[in-house]
Amino acid sequence: MRLTDCHNFQDFRKLAQRRLPGPIFNYIDGAADDEVTYRKNTTAFEQCDLLPSVLSGVADVDMSVTVMGQRLEMPIYCSPTALQRLFHHEGERAVGAAAAKYGTMFGVSSLGTVSLEEMRRKHKTPQVYQFYFHKDRALNKAMMARAKEAGVDVMMLTVDSITGGNRERDLRTGFSIPFKLTLGGMVQFAIKPMWGINYLTHEKFSLPQLEDHIEMDGGASSIGGYFSEMLDPSMDWDDVAAMVQEWDGQFCLKGVMTAEDARRAVDIGCTGIVLSNHGGRQLDGSRTPFDQLKEIVDAVGDKIDVLMDSGIQRGTHVLKAIALGAKAVGGGRFYLYPLAAAGQAGVERALGLMRAEIERDMKLMGVSSLRELSRNSVRFQGAL
Ligand code: LAC
Repeated sequence: MRLTDCHNFQDFRKLAQRRLPGPIFNYIDGAADDEVTYRKNTTAFEQCDLLPSVLSGVADVDMSVTVMGQRLEMPIYCSPTALQRLFHHEGERAVGAAAAKYGTMFGVSSLGTVSLEEMRRKHKTPQVYQFYFHKDRALNKAMMARAKEAGVDVMMLTVDSITGGNRERDLRTGFSIPFKLTLGGMVQFAIKPMWGINYLTHEKFSLPQLEDHIEMDGGASSIGGYFSEMLDPSMDWDDVAAMVQEWDGQFCLKGVMTAEDARRAVDIGCTGIVLSNHGGRQLDGSRTPFDQLKEIVDAVGDKIDVLMDSGIQRGTHVLKAIALGAKAVGGGRFYLYPLAAAGQAGVERALGLMRAEIERDMKLMGVSSLRELSRNSVRFQGAL
């Protein structure tokens, strides 16, 4: 199987599985507990049918959107994700370059493996900084000041990871950063020698957003340890209100799931919210962002930009979310499998295929701009 054999999300997933050592593939592919929410995130879209209009004159299609003041040439962006150079040695450099080529937004994570400054210097395309709230308030201030100085466009605070999710696949494989290979782990890596050669012959693994500030190679080096030891579970609305004030720019919360919390995000001055259950990786049994979208858009859609992620695999998923009122959607695994499969060429292929799908689906829906999609464009099964 080669990159040119990949035509959709599942194909990229299969190729990534072939290329990655088991523990790394399962870190990306896995989710919390029984992975019920992970599966539902995508099947939720199947309950919603599209209602195409015909004979609408769709020779030219415009799929650009403006969200939190950023113009995106396509309505799906690359959500910030951790540890990208572990998946492919090009890591964030590949994702940022591909996103820039397609004119969409990408994110650099606090747990990113390339510095946000480097990515900001290299590409003009909008960049979000995924942020966690640490116990050490001086660290939070220093990290925000650094992001401001670098010219980050949007601050994206993750609010669904107040503690680490129960990723049982990772418990079984012993996945941790940096690697401390067990014998079993070595076997898994030994059978994928190309990954190991690439890993060892490229720049040493590091976490540039954090390494100036904290020691990442002691007991707190596992992801679970970072969550339990460094992050502050006492974080509340007052803390975040102070951060929003201090940032004084585009600020969104990722992981809001109720209309009430969405209203509070408006009250403290956020400019966006991302409905998300972290790709099913945190609270299993959580409702899906797509199922919550309508209610939240009805509550705050005229006051704040509502985005969503989790489960998006197809152009039609994007259109359904936009029809219900999302301004744009994010995806993680949809570019991470391609990254793992083939670096920048993989991410470019994934974005290109997604762009082509959205364009084709818009034409089939009879809309030449995303503004033409509305609640009338969809019908939920069972509804009259
Ligand atoms: C995860 C965190 C790091 O989902 O965002 O693994």
